[in-house]
Amino acid sequence: MSKNTITIINNRDGKTYEFNILDATVGPSVVDISSFYKETGMFTYDEGYTSTASCQSKITYIDGDAGQLMYRGYDISFMAKEKSFLDTAYLLIYGELPSQDELTDFKLEMQKRSFVHEGIKKLFDSFPDGAHPMAILSAGVSALATFYFKHLEITTAAEYQEMANRIVAKIPTLAAFSYRYSNGLPIIYPDLNKGFTENFLNMLRAYPHEYVELKDVEIKALDTIFTLHADHEQNASTTAVRNLASTMAHPYAAISAGIGALWGRSHGGANESVIRQLEMIGSVDRVDEFIGKAKDKDDPFRLMGFGHRVYKNFDPRATILKEIRNELMEELGISSELVEVANKIEQIALSDEYFVSRGLYPNIDFYSGLILQALKIPKEMFAVVFVIGRTPGWIAQWSELRQQKSIKIARPRQLYVGSSERTPNT
Ligand code: SDX
Repeated sequence: MSKNTITIINNRDGKTYEFNILDATVGPSVVDISSFYKETGMFTYDEGYTSTASCQSKITYIDGDAGQLMYRGYDISFMAKEKSFLDTAYLLIYGELPSQDELTDFKLEMQKRSFVHEGIKKLFDSFPDGAHPMAILSAGVSALATFYFKHLEITTAAEYQEMANRIVAKIPTLAAFSYRYSNGLPIIYPDLNKGFTENFLNMLRAYPHEYVELKDVEIKALDTIFTLHADHEQNASTTAVRNLASTMAHPYAAISAGIGALWGRSHGGANESVIRQLEMIGSVDRVDEFIGKAKDKDDPFRLMGFGHRVYKNFDPRATILKEIRNELMEELGISSELVEVANKIEQIALSDEYFVSRGLYPNIDFYSGLILQALKIPKEMFAVVFVIGRTPGWIAQWSELRQQKSIKIARPRQLYVGSSERTPNT
């Protein structure tokens, strides 16, 4: 019996099975159960994949108990405080932090590729006023596969680089266009004299022939938010992207699927729900009522922005955002009323047995919404901001899978609990 295996005994028939243990660089080892069905005739069962590793990856590491997050080995606090979002995007996609020259070239790439084919406007014209920007964005990204069909087959590093840079550069433009079309506003084109994050804010806020003053503190706050959202291991939307990568689907179809998954309020849609929930609660004296609803098993109400599948301690991204919120409350004009309600929720939840025993702490979405609101970004655009940040992570994860020597299509099994064979009543 080797030290690098786990032995399982089936108590029904006394048979024993050995499975190899594979060790991580840091963090939990895994038990390789790929032969489990062949050897035992049974499947393993893990709804929501709470204890299941779906892949090997070198991109992002999370230690939920220690509240640690690393991008390619660099701690999130270093990336958020010392580096820019484009540094982060380059690191995730290409594996190393860019040199000054590489960063300059990458910035130029982002500016050069920020325009989208004029044909996209015809698609966006067909959507109704008030259409949610996430629905428009998902359609727009999927439509990019019609203009860049050639990315269906990527074999060289140059082709991969073109595909990756193209989508990272175009997402902010499509995102801003989604908002403008949803509100019947004239679109603002990218400005080749502006940086990545400043350009997005300008395309969101400006009007034709009108100069909009964007404060450095606003641009830096949003750039940091993009960095904090850039990747997060095998979360639900990244799993969707990887699933499409495993079928050899077009990379932009995979990103569109990631947008769809992220939009759910249990995932990236939570930031919009947090603000709506804070506004619904409205004042600190109503907080207790809603904490009670969140704890009531018979009440479907959940405290949005609280809890996380992996972090059973503070989400390190939330810690950084809380600092930004507190530092910039004055400069950004963050709503003190909503902050008071948020602080009261946090203060109660962090001492209440229900939340503490379940490891329910504020997550990234609990704080991002208040900062985005202060940046004059509309609530329905919060998840869109998440998409802009997460796209480099999705593309890095898509490419890591597609560059594997062998690719297994994602195809889980099930525990069938339906009818056994029935004969139709004649
Ligand atoms: C993101 O995975 C990622 O990495 C995601 C993300 C990323 O960067 O990609 O970090 C981004 O999605 C952050 C999460 C944003 N979502 C929310 O804030 C929505 C509110 N939170 C939850 O719905 C929930 O906490 C999840 C979905 C985030 C996590 O769900 P899990 O891990 O499946 O946990 P669970 O639903 O099994 O809950 C465990 C217990 C349950 O109670 P019991 O059955 O044990 O009695 O905790 C309770 C739940 O009822 N619970 C909550 C709660 N979250 C969990 N109770 C009240 N309010 C909540 N928010």
